[in-house]
This record gives sequence, structure tokens and C-alpha cells, in this order.
Amino acid sequence: TRVLVLNGPNLGRLGTREPDIYGSETLEDLRTQLEQDAPDGVTVDLRQTDDEGTLIGWLHEAVDTSMPVILNPAAFTHYSYALRDAVSIVTEAGLPLIEVHLSNPHAREEFRHTSVVTGVATGVIAGLGFDSYRLALSAVLRRAPAGS
Ligand code: DQA
Repeated sequence: TRVLVLNGPNLGRLGTREPDIYGSETLEDLRTQLEQDAPDGVTVDLRQTDDEGTLIGWLHEAVDTSMPVILNPAAFTHYSYALRDAVSIVTEAGLPLIEVHLSNPHAREEFRHTSVVTGVATGVIAGLGFDSYRLALSAVLRRAPAGS
């Protein structure tokens, strides 16, 4: 099984970006932790982009190759209907997609209280730093279709 772990805009700056909110560890540290957690036979394919179209293309790829997805849509969470539609294509195809956030958006600015993605995601885990992803990894694997 290959799990796609997709990260949206500005998450490539983890480690130096608002460390009081997002912590001082980097996306490479996250990759290492998830690879350590992954059971035998599971490949973690972690990617990051600042580009909406690229992120949407990766979600289409998940459908075409039957991959379960962990998605931190970052700021796109709050306003990208194009991303929401792409997430819907994934879950409609019967693949699990878990929305994750490092911080708890509901404890922050008003504009972060809305997610246009949640309504079509399989589930959401937020506010737990890298643990949001680690919990999502075990949850997504339990829901991955056989043969994915
Ligand atoms: C985030 C929360 C978003 O509101 C923000 O725009 C991000 C990161 C998180 O992981 O906490 O870039 O998705």
C-alpha cells in the first residue's frame, strides 16, 4: 500500500514558519516519523506544493492509482472550492481521505473556522501537531481498499 501525504501552501517552511504555532520540526522530520511508523509493506509518499493545480493533480492521481490520502490543505482549506471538488472525487471513488491540521483552526482566527473540505473528507484530525498525521496514517490504512 502506498499512502499519499499531501501538504499545501507554506508547509514547506515548517520549522521556521511561526514555530510557536507549528513547532520547530520540518517537513523532512515529519517524513522520517511517518516512515518509522509505517508498517511493513506501506510506503509513505509525502509531497508539498504551494500550487493549487498541482495539489488537484495529485488528488486525481490518487484516484487513478487507488491511493488513500492524508491531506493538509493549509490555507486552501478555507476557500478552495476547486480543491473541495477534487477531494470529493477521491472519496466518491471509495478511497479514504483524512484532512489534517497541525494547529486547531477553530482556536484561531475566524476565517480559519470554515473548512470547505471537511464536508467531503472521510474524517478530520486537527490540533495535534505531527500526531495529527500519525493518527491519520493508522486510520487511513484501516480504511484503505484491499489491493491499494
Ligand atoms: C493549517 C491551518 C491553516 O489555517 C493554515 O493556513 C495552514 C496550516 C494547519 O496545519 O494547522 O497553513 O492547515
